[in-house]
Amino acid sequence: MCMKDLQNNAITVLNNNWKDKFSIPCAKLYPFQWFWDSGLIAIGFAHFDMPKAEKEIETLLDAQWSNGFIPHIIFHTETDTYFPGPDFHRSDLHPESSKKYKSTGMTQPPVTGFVLEDLYRISKDRDATLKFIESVIDKVYKNHEYFYNQRDPQDEGLVYIYHNWESGTDNSPIWDDIWDTMNPPEYTFERRDTTHVDAAQRPSKREYDHYLHIIEIAKQNNYNDQKIAELSPFLVQDPLFNAVLLKSNQSLIDLYRIIGNKNNNDKIHQLQKWQDKGTKSFNNKLYDEELGVYVHYDLRNEKLLKHISSSSFAPLFANLPSETRAEKMVDIMMEKFGNPDQYLCASFDPTSDRFNPKKYWRGPVWVNLNWMLYYGLKQYGFYDIAKRMKQDTIEIIENNGFYEYFDSRKEEHKNGNAGYGGHNFSWSAALFIDLLNE
Ligand code: SER
Repeated sequence: MCMKDLQNNAITVLNNNWKDKFSIPCAKLYPFQWFWDSGLIAIGFAHFDMPKAEKEIETLLDAQWSNGFIPHIIFHTETDTYFPGPDFHRSDLHPESSKKYKSTGMTQPPVTGFVLEDLYRISKDRDATLKFIESVIDKVYKNHEYFYNQRDPQDEGLVYIYHNWESGTDNSPIWDDIWDTMNPPEYTFERRDTTHVDAAQRPSKREYDHYLHIIEIAKQNNYNDQKIAELSPFLVQDPLFNAVLLKSNQSLIDLYRIIGNKNNNDKIHQLQKWQDKGTKSFNNKLYDEELGVYVHYDLRNEKLLKHISSSSFAPLFANLPSETRAEKMVDIMMEKFGNPDQYLCASFDPTSDRFNPKKYWRGPVWVNLNWMLYYGLKQYGFYDIAKRMKQDTIEIIENNGFYEYFDSRKEEHKNGNAGYGGHNFSWSAALFIDLLNE
């Protein structure tokens, strides 16, 4: 199929998943609004329908809690195709939660700051887009304030996540190390995801026991951040999450400067302080000399989780590593993930025995991570590898359609059924449009 037709298909996917004021990631499997999906989807819309891009972000920010927190799922509608729904999550337990929307009590990688900058980059009417940005940017600032005030107990400039669903990389093999430290009850519940998608491509029942157990503990404490920091068995400083936050900090600084109102000077100053401290700690604490990449830090058990995943390379996107470190990281990426029989970039180290190229975040290629890595590589001048990252991303979509994730093994793509998880998946379509037009 020619690129123009494929781009039109991507536009159709986005328009079909648009629900008047927000987008669902895909029908049935994910029938509500998700935080980081929403941001990345707005980047796709910005190329052909800026009012929808703006509305997407406006609706997301409308669900912000009064303490600045933005939830990972906003339950706009009633549906029984998803578990666990609003009655399980019970965001109303938190005194500052939204009175208007039911949501979860956990968050996701804070993409909104850099997304606003992307809308500005893409816009054909920058004055109008800047006006929109001006109308929402303080809410994003407040979200960052929440993170640094509530999620950084040791005042390091690094924030924690308390649940694997906050990482976005739900069932990454990295979390196996944490599951080994826990022994949750065997819960009885009805999974819905495995009625839409082959169970071989989704997390296991035992993994879900862990996921639910962490939420139960948070709920027993009314989602109080201090209590969670004290009691949650899962407490991690994640390099992807923190790289996204730092990237967004920088975007907020740049956008406030473009807006140019001196009333924002204090905010710029504060953002710069978070940025300087966070960058320093990120490079000191999350880099593993031995592996030559960034890894996760388990704050509960006070140790590095020494595994290489696509999140290990995300710091390139936020311009965090030195040139020397970046070169080493890219060498490792190519050595372990870049074999010619593999598409870039598997979500987990293909040379590890925990690698599974079919199972969600345990190996498949994800378009959102490829998109971040593409821009990161380009920023550091790795043009050839960036080009391959982009071509591989386009090719896996061309071979299979707009799936949620894809087999990393080229061999599996011959019959056009190496796309897994949800089909007609919004961010795969959105970021495909951006890659074609950047
Ligand atoms: N991605 C999770 C799920 O699969 C929730 O964010 O349900």
